[in-house]
Amino acid sequence: MYNEKDIISKWNSEMYDCYETETDDVDFALSVIGLEPKRILEIACGSGRFLVPMAKAGHDITGLDFDEHMLNRISAKISDSQNIHWHKADVINDVWGNGFDIVLLAANFLSNIVSDMDYKQAQELMIQKAAGALVSGGHVLIDYAHTFHPEKWFNNPAPNVVWQGTDSEGNFGKMVLLNSTFDSNSGIIQCIRRFEMVLADRSSLVQELPTRKHFASIEQVRTWLERAGFVIEQEWGDYQGNPISESTNRAIIWAKKK
Ligand SMILES: C[S@@+](CC[C@H](N)C(=O)[O-])C[C@H]1O[C@@H](n2cnc3c(N)ncnc32)[C@H](O)[C@@H]1O
Repeated sequence: MYNEKDIISKWNSEMYDCYETETDDVDFALSVIGLEPKRILEIACGSGRFLVPMAKAGHDITGLDFDEHMLNRISAKISDSQNIHWHKADVINDVWGNGFDIVLLAANFLSNIVSDMDYKQAQELMIQKAAGALVSGGHVLIDYAHTFHPEKWFNNPAPNVVWQGTDSEGNFGKMVLLNSTFDSNSGIIQCIRRFEMVLADRSSLVQELPTRKHFASIEQVRTWLERAGFVIEQEWGDYQGNPISESTNRAIIWAKKK
């Protein structure tokens, strides 16, 4: 687990909402799901970037996430909350529920899983748990950052400032990724997430969190889907609807539970 200090988690949740404001992935998912109201489960819903527009479009949507600071930001974004629900849950260890028409494993979650489990196993587990949560004939929508050349994305020792800013309590911070390496045999990405904070009381706080992830190739995801009893119906490489290719940077997969 990453175990960020609480003050950093709260700052991070506010920065997330400031910086992650894109809507093209949400709009694309809505166009795939269609207009008929569906029962949807979003895994790792965060602060509701998918949850809120999906509920506003008439779907009955439930989100799971283990970060309370992210979840606490949802209620301010929606007034009529009949068809939107969220629960604090560790999606690796806790149950997801069942009877859903659609499970969303979107927003790059296959590359953002936090757990103590072997990363590749955790990725496959998410697909297996999606199958368990769906009605038969239901769909999983996977959307993650994909390239045929992960070494170009992830072999990057130079510091990369992901975001910086001041939160509502006057705490300034910077999240920096350092020493990123990619092992092409194992698909393992390693880096350090470093938080550099100057708190409202002028004290400083630095936390470094070594991070280890696995990059899932499209072939691996296809295999995991098949093993979990899914049939892939459509795949796209970007939000313009182009196929996955050398020049696209997403893998968006719509697969049906048999
Ligand atoms: C990049 S954010 C995406 C949030 C949201 N889906 C969106 O599109 O804005 C990733 C989220 O995954 C959550 N997360 C990571 N590992 C998790 C786990 N094991 N259980 C529950 N939530 C997890 C984090 O708390 C975070 O909110």
